[in-house]
Amino acid sequence: MLSREKNELLTRTGPGTPMGTLLRRYWLPAALSLELPEPDGAPVRVRLLGEQLVAFRDSSGRIGLLREFCAHRGASLFFGRNEECGLRCIYHGWKYDASGNCVDMMNEPADLDFQSKIRLSAYPTMELGGLVWTYLGPPEQQPPLPRFAWALVPESHRHVYKTWQECNWLQALEGGIDTSHANILHRRLHPTDARHGIVPSATFVRAGAPRLEVYPHEYGYLYAGVRSLDDEQVYVRTYHYVMPFTQIRPGPLDMVKPHNAGHIWIPMDDENCMVYHWTYSMGAEPLSEEDRLEPGSGREPSEHLPDFRKVRNKDNNYLIDRQAQKTELFSGIVGINNQDNAVQESMGPIVDRTQEHLGPADKAIIIARQMLLDAVDTARAGGDPPGVHGDYEQLHAIVGAYPRDGSWQAAAGGTHQPLAAQV
Ligand code: FES
Ligand SMILES: [Fe+2]
Repeated sequence: MLSREKNELLTRTGPGTPMGTLLRRYWLPAALSLELPEPDGAPVRVRLLGEQLVAFRDSSGRIGLLREFCAHRGASLFFGRNEECGLRCIYHGWKYDASGNCVDMMNEPADLDFQSKIRLSAYPTMELGGLVWTYLGPPEQQPPLPRFAWALVPESHRHVYKTWQECNWLQALEGGIDTSHANILHRRLHPTDARHGIVPSATFVRAGAPRLEVYPHEYGYLYAGVRSLDDEQVYVRTYHYVMPFTQIRPGPLDMVKPHNAGHIWIPMDDENCMVYHWTYSMGAEPLSEEDRLEPGSGREPSEHLPDFRKVRNKDNNYLIDRQAQKTELFSGIVGINNQDNAVQESMGPIVDRTQEHLGPADKAIIIARQMLLDAVDTARAGGDPPGVHGDYEQLHAIVGAYPRDGSWQAAAGGTHQPLAAQV
């Protein structure tokens, strides 16, 4: 349970809010590179931490990220003409370059030089790992781009996509660092078809409910669901929570192929977030088409509308199939991502955490909240919050059977920091 004040503090991310100030200290994904495939192509709207922006790839390939509304009289630049290294408003023809400088005005005489006095807010952008990243914080505190292994492998080994989730970023993130729901919400009732859900393996079923272990690091924490197999072995599935909004987990096929996957939860505003999904091959083999599509994950492009909202959504009750709920799927909802979205969005746009009852299985969530609250204080005091200068290339997640002697911890560590004591 949280106080109303702390719930507000954790969930509000607009300009000037404490959490908004913290999140503005990190590079944030703003769009998929594939949304801006070519110079002078169509601009896209970007909603980020309550700010309404427009992104465009100019004639030279550079990506501009500007305030969406024209400095003249506020028309949306989403409708703008992307031409000759700038975005031109279709109302009176004011034109802006990728840095936000007004470079031309069609409705004013050129000799007035009015345009040199006009500038639109603009944010820096970088492309890495199939994403367009931006930084909304104070320029003097701009850190380097984070280095994640998935973003550094060749494109053939990586897949990224995104989903517009219609709820606050924190309850979506908390769903992603909540291992105890995985083989309940996502369970298939028959082990004949692994699509659309998790079919617990015989090993997994034998292992029963997990014991959750959390190991803090300077970047966030490693957490592990540890299930007892027999006197000698435990079944371990590890995740990393990287401050403030990233999860790294074993890929869906990790037991047969060395894959990792994860999410990045980015607030669009306080009642919507964009969830970036990534997966990559950690071995020599590139991803196959099936690896990219992850059939049954609910993350396939076919499960999305053109603006990345979901085909199965809260307005149609995620097309829940009550017959399937009796006979096939624990949830009755097709697609793992859709199952997650259904429960997380069903809590309301911003869940009231004064009413919840947390148990030991929620330990990772409790610790993440405390880390975020501490980081808010650090950022408020002008310090560097955790993970802001992060090199995460060595971080990886593991799954499988390991001896009880603790050797899984060595396999799961994967970071330059030694494991701290378990919390
Ligand atoms: S509102 Fe954009 S040029 Fe007038
Ligand atoms: Fe889930």
